[in-house]
Amino acid sequence: MSAMENDPFSLFAKWMKEAEKNEPNDPNAMALATVDGDGRPSSRMVLLKGWDQTGFVFYTNLESRKGGEIQANPNVALLFHWKSLKRQIRIEGAVQPVTPEEADAYFASRPRISQIGAWASLQSRPLEGRFELERRVAEFTAKFGLGEITRPPHWSGFRVVPRAMEFWHDRPFRLHDRFAYSHDGDGWTARHLFP
Ligand SMILES: Cc1cc2nc3c(=O)[nH]c(=O)nc-3n(C[C@H](O)[C@H](O)[C@H](O)COP(=O)(O)O)c2cc1C
Repeated sequence: MSAMENDPFSLFAKWMKEAEKNEPNDPNAMALATVDGDGRPSSRMVLLKGWDQTGFVFYTNLESRKGGEIQANPNVALLFHWKSLKRQIRIEGAVQPVTPEEADAYFASRPRISQIGAWASLQSRPLEGRFELERRVAEFTAKFGLGEITRPPHWSGFRVVPRAMEFWHDRPFRLHDRFAYSHDGDGWTARHLFP
């Protein structure tokens, strides 16, 4: 059970810590919803790679479907669902690109094969077959040899700057807890919502 707190970030920290202990896989996995230029939504999972009071960071291919949609409309939503804890967190906000330095530092921390993968994958575009991907991996492996693999210009991160966060916790007989936070002016307002 959780009590409502004044600050959504301290509640987020507590819930994420418990998810890290309880979830068997990827407690940092979250659904990212974007909308296209016609207002049509789509969603997919991404991994949360950093967060603090300024926002929630994920990394991706900027030329992917989500990359294009974010360029057209920076408003997005994130969703965590931890089945082991019966908890959900919804986050809504607008994205800002991370700085090149931040993206470089994270890219440098990734395994070498993942770095090659970032060069090889034309994320979201049609692939003739598995062989085409493997050929591109071999090409970039040969290109970089044993040298440092620099971050591709089409690969970086986004920070979702939250304007609303909502915490949902299962309670018996569907009388769940819902704590909703909205950012207005310079502070956060907390409200209980009916389940
Ligand atoms: C658990 C999980 C984590 C994922 N993490 C990422 C991620 O951090 N970044 C990313 O670009 N794609 C990630 N993916 C793949 C995306 O869900 C998606 O297939 C890909 O980014 C292409 O999405 P798009 O065509 O909408 O741009 C992940 C998939 C799963 C299932």
